[in-house]
Amino acid sequence: MSGELEGRVALVTGAAQGLGAAVSDALAGEGATVVRTDVAGGDVTLDVRDEGAVRDAIAGAAERHGRLDVVVANAGVALVKPLAETSLEEWRGLMQINLDGVFVTAREAALQMAARGGGSIILMASISGLRGSPLIGTYAAAKAGVISLAKTLALEMRDHGVRVNAICPGFIDTAMVRDHEATLTQAIGMPALDVINAKQGRLGTANEVGRLALFLASDRSRFSTAEAFVLDGGSTGSLV
Ligand SMILES: NC(=O)c1ccc[n+]([C@@H]2O[C@H](COP(=O)([O-])OP(=O)(O)OC[C@H]3O[C@@H](n4cnc5c(N)ncnc54)[C@H](O)[C@@H]3O)[C@@H](O)[C@H]2O)c1
Repeated sequence: MSGELEGRVALVTGAAQGLGAAVSDALAGEGATVVRTDVAGGDVTLDVRDEGAVRDAIAGAAERHGRLDVVVANAGVALVKPLAETSLEEWRGLMQINLDGVFVTAREAALQMAARGGGSIILMASISGLRGSPLIGTYAAAKAGVISLAKTLALEMRDHGVRVNAICPGFIDTAMVRDHEATLTQAIGMPALDVINAKQGRLGTANEVGRLALFLASDRSRFSTAEAFVLDGGSTGSLV
């Protein structure tokens, strides 16, 4: 049985674990050839802070496989700290990965795809980029930037057949959330997962994000571009 991405080529950043791994598995499960990149290793070791390395990885994947249909800019880190206590160094350190890294990945993907007749670029944002987000303000500012980047790049690339969309997950069960659970719990004075569960009902799963990415990568979403897709169990839709 052939998958709906048979013959397509994808590249994912931050693909060693968590959402990047689940997205890669979802695309590969439908027959795509997936180039998994990560600073911690993968098919290609890639730190998204290195502009030249990002350019080489994306151009290299396109040349090696003769095409590049899907790029997922997923690599990111978290910082749990009130803005008033955040140093400029900490702010810049996060922005370098979560915003600059996404910009360079998306730009290089757009250039390759425009030259090769089109494609789908997916940027991993967050619901934190849509709302005030106490304790994760630096992270949220970067994600708001990612959403804006997706919308503008999509409009600039529309005539080249390149679609660009952002995914805005709520809290998903990955190391990023589990690793910061204690800090969050301490900061809010009660179990962080209780607060998240009360808002979302439960943590999302990485596979659920993978399935949305698969839709955005495939032709089934061909009328969708310049959009931010929320996947959060209803938490941003709620008044309370
Ligand atoms: N887990 C959530 O609740 C959640 C919610 C919304 C958005 N997101 C976003 O999803 C993305 C993936 O998060 P996750 O939950 O899988 O986290 P994770 O920590 O499990 O995985 C992140 C991956 O990114 C890689 N990475 C970190 N810095 C990098 C760099 N400089 N260059 C290349 N790779 C780098 C890590 O090695 C790791 O494999 C992030 O952008 C995150 O902000 C996560």
